Amino acid sequence: MKASSGQTTTTNKGPAPFLKWPGGKRRIVPFLLGYLQFPIKRLVEPFCGSCALSLAVADRAESFWLNDINKDLIDLLDQIKCDPQAVIMRSRPYFVPENNKGSVYYRLRDEFNRTRDPLTRAALFLYLNRHGYNGLCRYNADGEFNVPFGRYIAPYFPEKEILAAAAVLARAKITNRDFEEVMDACGPDDVIYCDPPYIPLSPTASFTSYAAGGFGLADQERLAKAAARAAARGALVVISNHDTPLTRELYKEAELKSLDVRRNISCDGANRAVVREIIAVYAPMGVRAEIIRG
Ligand SMILES: C[S@@+](CC[C@H](N)C(=O)[O-])C[C@H]1O[C@@H](n2cnc3c(N)ncnc32)[C@H](O)[C@@H]1O
Repeated sequence: MKASSGQTTTTNKGPAPFLKWPGGKRRIVPFLLGYLQFPIKRLVEPFCGSCALSLAVADRAESFWLNDINKDLIDLLDQIKCDPQAVIMRSRPYFVPENNKGSVYYRLRDEFNRTRDPLTRAALFLYLNRHGYNGLCRYNADGEFNVPFGRYIAPYFPEKEILAAAAVLARAKITNRDFEEVMDACGPDDVIYCDPPYIPLSPTASFTSYAAGGFGLADQERLAKAAARAAARGALVVISNHDTPLTRELYKEAELKSLDVRRNISCDGANRAVVREIIAVYAPMGVRAEIIRG
């Protein structure tokens, strides 16, 4: 069994997100902050995931637009925005030792896949996120959540983190759209942070030719073009991704910076490595990126 996944600290990375999310960016938040202009009128995250950056700038942005293609995630954010206490009351009873075993996990996972009640689904999604394998979020061909049991010693109930998120969600527009639709609706009042699924470190033929339910090369190209268009309309756009020859080519119109990030590169968390990430800054038309950094 692994140690509990809970952590409650607030550091210069901002409050811990209430969700574990693959590719979560809390670790590089301090670096990203150096590329944003404060105060922010509206922070837009077209790939919001666990909303790590929005949580970190909660006090320095007037409003937020949080978007993700994952409907279960967006439904949970909507439920917390609407009534955080109701989500806490409904999900806390799931976080008891009797529910931290495979047999109960698989029964509750079935219940999540069957029920249509929005509050029950939100509470169970939170339970699955903290009790499932590595916080993964994966579905089978029928759209059913199918992540196996995670075997943690004592999964943490993130009540404080839900309440911190609720303060951001109260000022957020929350949508479940493709990123391009969101970016095309942004303008001069917006700072857009894009954290797409990573480009593989060595792209395979399947990545470059198609993406079965995933995010392929055509999507990465759409993103780079949407970023340039949004900057031309006056938005500041920041994108993070792996630093590879392909991302350097895709983001060639932007100012590029790179940093080393230590993270898990295998599913079981056993394989930690330093990976180079790139930050691409598309300055609003007429503004040089170095000026933004001050
Ligand atoms: C690397 S994660 C973002 C992590 C987030 N920045 C955080 O700190 O937790 C990428 C996200 O992109 C979302 N996504 C994938 N394809 C998308 C699309 N076409 N439009 C919008 N979101 C998409 C995924 O559901 C996932 O939550």
